[in-house]
Amino acid sequence: MKRIGIVTTGGDAPGMNAAIRSAVRTAIFYNIEVIGIYDGFRGLYEKKFEKLTSRSVSGIINQGGTILKTKRFYEFKKREIREKCFENLIEAKIDGLIVIGGDGSAKGAYLLYSEFNFPVVHVPASIDNDIYGTDYTIGFDTAVNTAIDAIDKIRDTATSHERTFIIEVMGRESGILALEIGIVCGAEIVIIPEVEMNIDKIVEEIKEEGEKGKKSCIIVLAEGAGKAEDLTKILSEKLPDREIRYTVLGYIQRGGKPTYLTRKLATIFGHRAVEILIEGKYGYMIGIKGEEIVYTPLSEVVNKTKSIKVEYLNIVKKMAI
Ligand code: F6P
Repeated sequence: MKRIGIVTTGGDAPGMNAAIRSAVRTAIFYNIEVIGIYDGFRGLYEKKFEKLTSRSVSGIINQGGTILKTKRFYEFKKREIREKCFENLIEAKIDGLIVIGGDGSAKGAYLLYSEFNFPVVHVPASIDNDIYGTDYTIGFDTAVNTAIDAIDKIRDTATSHERTFIIEVMGRESGILALEIGIVCGAEIVIIPEVEMNIDKIVEEIKEEGEKGKKSCIIVLAEGAGKAEDLTKILSEKLPDREIRYTVLGYIQRGGKPTYLTRKLATIFGHRAVEILIEGKYGYMIGIKGEEIVYTPLSEVVNKTKSIKVEYLNIVKKMAI
């Protein structure tokens, strides 16, 4: 392995920079040249390549976003586009590729590996934490902490005004982020796409809590389960005595300084990504299970779904009494 490429793809996540830094410096340590590929898979297609040095990654361990930029590149679904990307890798004499991104990026990485036998390693980075093969993705812990910070503030005003607040958090396909946020923010109700929303039950719960003297209430809603605005309208009609407000946390969850856990994961994953390329272990995603660093074949990563601990909803319910 003489030259490796690094690309960040899909939605960004805090800690991507820490992973880039770690991979670049590990590669340089082993005398491997590093090519940064800008703008995700689009940049691979358009040959947006630039050599990275140890200094290119100075002072980025603490920065959110990705210095390599990223783009949604739906054209990558076409085989001829991927073929061109493969040719570009060969032409640039890149011997191995590290793809840093979420579940869509893992699919892209898998296709480059399975169709062209190109040495690829995937590093999971996504605020959604919905990738099979790892307990945690880079960026998830930071996004949860960002939400904690925001919801703690909302709780202050919710309590003062005795209002019910619906807080919409990210998670288009998965409720993992919402569920974790709900538990640690002390939400009374968490609504996730994996469990069908039951408006009557929600109304009943809010009423019951009111009868027990709870005048304010926090509802965490995963974006994949519905829109906070719509739910606010529905609940306001059904609960005319309640003042219901909503906040959409949105993209604030994708940015910011990576936390300790995010930086540590990013540094270890980035480091091992280079090492397993050197060891000739291709077509895998790096992950963490408990304390162990694990390697899951990309064929499994893209074909299996990470399970969500739906039973945590029972804890949420018990904590709301
Ligand atoms: O990063 C994952 C994610 O945040 C999803 O939860 C969300 O639905 C999606 O990205 C939206 O991102 P974009 O607007 O960049 O496609």
